[in-house]
Amino acid sequence: MSGDTLPAGHFDQVYQESADPYGFSSRWYERRKYAVSLAMLPWPRYRAGFEPGCSIGELTAQLGPRCDTLLSCDGAAAAVAAAQARTAELPSVRIEQRTIPGGWPDATFDLIVLSELLYYLSDDDLALTVGRAVGSLTPGGTLLAVHWRRPVPFHPQTGDDAHAAIAARPELTLLADHREPDFLAQVYLRAPAGADPGELSVAAAEGLT
Ligand SMILES: C[S@@+](CC[C@H](N)C(=O)[O-])C[C@H]1O[C@@H](n2cnc3c(N)ncnc32)[C@H](O)[C@@H]1O
Repeated sequence: MSGDTLPAGHFDQVYQESADPYGFSSRWYERRKYAVSLAMLPWPRYRAGFEPGCSIGELTAQLGPRCDTLLSCDGAAAAVAAAQARTAELPSVRIEQRTIPGGWPDATFDLIVLSELLYYLSDDDLALTVGRAVGSLTPGGTLLAVHWRRPVPFHPQTGDDAHAAIAARPELTLLADHREPDFLAQVYLRAPAGADPGELSVAAAEGLT
């Protein structure tokens, strides 16, 4: 599959038709997927997180308490407003209107979450976005990617295509890999200089070997 990046107007229309068009706040499927995603994060806390494509802020509200600061963004104004309201009581969370990859922030993060976003991007925008993610991850930083696997006719990529683009980056080491027929969730670490990728382990970080 390939094609153009879905335009902002597509998502504006989606949010005009429904306040929660993907059922993020109502579906057990989504609640369970968030629980799987959060459990896969290797560290209890992060200094600075970035979550592009945050929609109405359901995952954001669960990531916020794990981060000293969390910048989340969405291209759709209605989603940004909903996410701001959803996270209003979380002082560590900032929600901005930004479109990826052009609006990728000039900052570094030790956590980047790409959840249900990359399959909307063209081949070029996917490559740019993965490149920006790798470039703004601090050494040892965590990249969590989670995507629906079943083909959607109007998406330029499948979820598996998107994850293949991440897997191709030599700077990243796969730490955790959860796959089922519906979705793929993977955690990559930007390996610190000189690290043996085979030695990256949550247990080893606490001296448990
Ligand atoms: C399926 S929702 C994902 C929500 C959230 N990440 C989650 O997993 O719960 C996709 C969101 O990405 C936003 N989006 C799509 N393409 C985007 C882009 N190029 N830049 C920023 N946001 C985008 C849409 O507006 C939509 O709110």
